[in-house]
Amino acid sequence: MNNTQFKAWRVEEVNEGYEGSEQTLAISDLPAGDVLIRVSHSSLNYKDAMSASGNKGVSRSFPHTPGIDAAGEVVESATGDPAIGTQVLVTGYDLGMNTDGGFGQYIRVPSDWCIPMPAGWSAETSMIYGTAGLTAGLCVQKLLAMGAQPEQGRVAVSGASGAVGSVAVELLANLGFEVVAISGKTDQAEHLKALGAADVVGRDALDHDKKPVVKPAFANAVDTVGGSPLAELLKQIQPGGSVSCCGLAAGPKLDTTVLPFILRGINLLGVDSVEIPRNEKEAVWKKLAGDWKCPKTEASVKNIGRADLDGALKAFLKGESAGKIVLDHAI
Ligand SMILES: NC(=O)c1ccc[n+]([C@@H]2O[C@H](COP(=O)([O-])OP(=O)(O)OC[C@H]3O[C@@H](n4cnc5c(N)ncnc54)[C@H](OP(=O)(O)O)[C@@H]3O)[C@@H](O)[C@H]2O)c1
Repeated sequence: MNNTQFKAWRVEEVNEGYEGSEQTLAISDLPAGDVLIRVSHSSLNYKDAMSASGNKGVSRSFPHTPGIDAAGEVVESATGDPAIGTQVLVTGYDLGMNTDGGFGQYIRVPSDWCIPMPAGWSAETSMIYGTAGLTAGLCVQKLLAMGAQPEQGRVAVSGASGAVGSVAVELLANLGFEVVAISGKTDQAEHLKALGAADVVGRDALDHDKKPVVKPAFANAVDTVGGSPLAELLKQIQPGGSVSCCGLAAGPKLDTTVLPFILRGINLLGVDSVEIPRNEKEAVWKKLAGDWKCPKTEASVKNIGRADLDGALKAFLKGESAGKIVLDHAI
């Protein structure tokens, strides 16, 4: 198949900036790997926007095809596992970072990056969740492992309208938690309530307070924004509560004191969805396809084609993106 040509949305360095456009590549242009996958769908993530804007912490060299998520059919398999014809999904590891990713119609990856499609799911359904859904699932799983229960009180989700946040809102609500969605987008309030949020509050709920701890407002939380809002959230968690921390949309720096930890026994739980072992990813994928299914998220997905990628990725960087967006290579 080496001469087979395909389309990819590729980012290049142009006039000291970075621009993406549709290009035609050959299979032989792809990196080495055991498994060649014909990608039907990908999913949009904040990290894709970072890669597409030339963030060297994500993608070191260009031209490059972003897309940290991909789903499709195995068309070549050096090891036979997964077998040719299998529907698989791939998220994280180096996909879309320095390995050409799901914004191309083909990817070639190591076999141990491939996860068999969970029963009952299409490639499109898996990409509605994508890395964001997996991350939301991991955040919730960590809270539950720390003993979080609905009776303990309200659970906050910051960056609630985002890709990770919106799945976290629905999943926690489905599990019986009273969810407070913290969002900077007033126009998303109704949607967040429809996903199951009991209350929607503005980002000012996490404005800086000079006190090292304040009156507890939440039993537990999922934080997708990091930075100063996370520092404030830690001050608002009730004794023994936990915060799953997965993102940095508001910045990577965490300027806090030890007081929420040593006075209230707060737990700050780091969540990585990228490099964890495949079996840990697979366990959460199975839950998302089973008991943790999020039907409202599935129903509210927005499908786009490669021609729409530029605008959609720029919206992520401006903090304007909302909900789950799937790239359908057939559009
Ligand atoms: N650890 C992991 O493995 C992992 C996996 C996936 C994603 N992530 C990270 O998780 C974060 C969320 O990812 P995503 O795909 O959900 O991104 P996203 O769709 O852009 O969502 C981020 C949300 O954060 C809020 N936000 C944006 N800028 C902000 C600011 N300056 N201050 C406060 N809130 C702000 C916005 O929500 P509102 O308007 O509703 O406030 C935005 O929609 C990103 O930092 C991403 O890199 C990490």
